[in-house]
Amino acid sequence: MNLLNQRRNRRSFLYLSGLAGLGGLSAVSAAQFCRSSQAQGLTSSAAESRSLRQQAAAKGILYGAAARQINLATDPTLAASYGRECSLLVPEWELKWDAVHPEPQRYDFAKSDWLLSFSQSHSMQFRGHTLVWNQALPVWVGETVTQANAEQVLSDHIATVVGRYAGKMHSWDVVNEAVEPQEGRSDGLRQTPWLALLGVDYIELAFRLAAAADPNALLVYNDDSMSYDMPFNDDKRVAVLKLLERLKAKNVPIHALGLESHLGFENSPDQNFNPQKLRQFLADVASLGLKIMVTELDVTDRELPFELARRDQKVADIYRDYLAAILDEPAVVSIVTWGLSDRVTWLSDYAARLDGAPVRSLPLDIDCQQKPAWTAMVEQFDQAPAR
Ligand code: G3I
Repeated sequence: MNLLNQRRNRRSFLYLSGLAGLGGLSAVSAAQFCRSSQAQGLTSSAAESRSLRQQAAAKGILYGAAARQINLATDPTLAASYGRECSLLVPEWELKWDAVHPEPQRYDFAKSDWLLSFSQSHSMQFRGHTLVWNQALPVWVGETVTQANAEQVLSDHIATVVGRYAGKMHSWDVVNEAVEPQEGRSDGLRQTPWLALLGVDYIELAFRLAAAADPNALLVYNDDSMSYDMPFNDDKRVAVLKLLERLKAKNVPIHALGLESHLGFENSPDQNFNPQKLRQFLADVASLGLKIMVTELDVTDRELPFELARRDQKVADIYRDYLAAILDEPAVVSIVTWGLSDRVTWLSDYAARLDGAPVRSLPLDIDCQQKPAWTAMVEQFDQAPAR
């Protein structure tokens, strides 16, 4: 048993022991506790007939979520929740290189085609993520792509993948997380394989290739760590704005900035969240003629109290405060959470709680029941200025 499994088992033991200590619950009934949290009245309200997609649409905003094909195909309760709550769907993985282009001469669109079909059958729009990133690259890219063939490889990939879905896409995250000021380049760019292979113009090239393959899709630059009043978020915002200015000055076909918005990692959101500073950044981006999309919104609860009602309310408060600032900006056109239900979230592994308790980071709980976070989002859509 490797160290990671030992830690996981210990965390789970601590969690179940903690619950058992709460009221003499056995470990088994304690484990069931988190599956019937709504039975304890821990959700903010009885299930409502309203939905996130309806309340957002009333203000001209698209709300949606990321999903994994395997989960929607095998979990009817989860799939129904997406159909009810979402008007925009983005594959969490299925359009990345390691999923859709597993070998140099082979593409695999089975999962992404399925997700497109799911979105269409639920009257959702569909967005692609992502065409150029330094992660999720299959082994063959590192083994076979050189400075001599990189432009052809990238051109073939974008023409094939974007071309397949041309006319059916709301938007594409064309380039993902290409800025990292802490790496010290004067242009703030991250040292990625694509930068090494193609030089700084790889970003412009990717956008022009995507526009040629699908003139109808909104083309997005997507990045993280721009939400908080902290030095490395300040530096990121400055560097991203300069990149956007350079691209616009060269008439590159870019239409929007994607703000990933993975919140709560900056361990004290209360102190580090500055709505005025965020609003100014959004206004600066909008002044370039760009739309703004929140693309991967979620809230890690790993530093928050164990007790469910307090934890849920704190998560809801973070959603509320963030969306209140974001939705004030008329250029913001869509809000996408990185998952919909705590049943499936990358945070279960990436930001697991030390006490082993299941994370509670998304609008719906593990039973796909509405949580205070859902209510907070609905309220912010209701209060948002119409687009
Ligand atoms: O399901 C497949 C399985 O069929 C296959 O055999 C296996 C082979 O590796 O991969 C499995 O897919 C995994 C996929 O998640 C499932 O959704 C991949 O291994 C795994 O690498 C992938 O991780 C994703 C990660 O990006 C890397 O692509 C996470 O789910 C996803 O939440 C995360 O999302 C990123 C955004 O794209 C960019 N912003 C940050 C965000 C969080 O890291």
